[in-house]
Amino acid sequence: MDIVVATGNAHKVAELVPLFAGHRLMLPRDLGIEDFNLEENGTTFLENALAKARHLHALVHRPVLADDSGLCVDALGGAPGVLSARFGTEHGLKPSDYGSKNRLLLSLMEGRENRTCAFVCCLVLYFDNRRFFVAQETLEGVLASAPRGEHGFGYDPIVYLPELGRTVAELEQKEKNLLSHRGKAARRISAMLESVQG
Ligand code: IMP
Repeated sequence: MDIVVATGNAHKVAELVPLFAGHRLMLPRDLGIEDFNLEENGTTFLENALAKARHLHALVHRPVLADDSGLCVDALGGAPGVLSARFGTEHGLKPSDYGSKNRLLLSLMEGRENRTCAFVCCLVLYFDNRRFFVAQETLEGVLASAPRGEHGFGYDPIVYLPELGRTVAELEQKEKNLLSHRGKAARRISAMLESVQG
């Protein structure tokens, strides 16, 4: 099936492509839509993912895969959560400057005992207004004491997986896909897709 992914984030698409083997994932720009972007005003990952799906579907009239994801830190009441992409901008940081964003997040955690956190991903495969599949999944970890690792993107260097003794940024892409919030949600959506196609 041809599916248009509602994102401009190349890292996310690179993670999703192997998880939807047998399907053709396209970017909005492949259909002439440059800079697909929607202001995310929802208070939940599901609201944001559905809003992105609806917005892109209205433009392309084809099946759309939309995700919304973020890092939720328990000691910070679930922040940055749905605001993960924008976190730090209120301190003058650039949204893409994850070196600084990660240091800022770790500084907010100084002196706090509970360092548990989770990456969350909500994925919506949207056929039309009446028919869509939803999966929301997590990758649980703890905040590292300092950033470590070169792979992945975003907050990966500061999320430590105690059972592996590594941060997410120390995982190869394939390993990350096996464990990650996005990988797990994508496999659930992919299984739903196979079940209706078969
Ligand atoms: P959005 O889903 O495009 O609104 O943005 C999600 C934001 O959450 C990203 O820009 C990252 O800051 C963060 N995030 C989501 N998934 C991951 C991941 O797998 N690794 C690291 N950061 C992530």
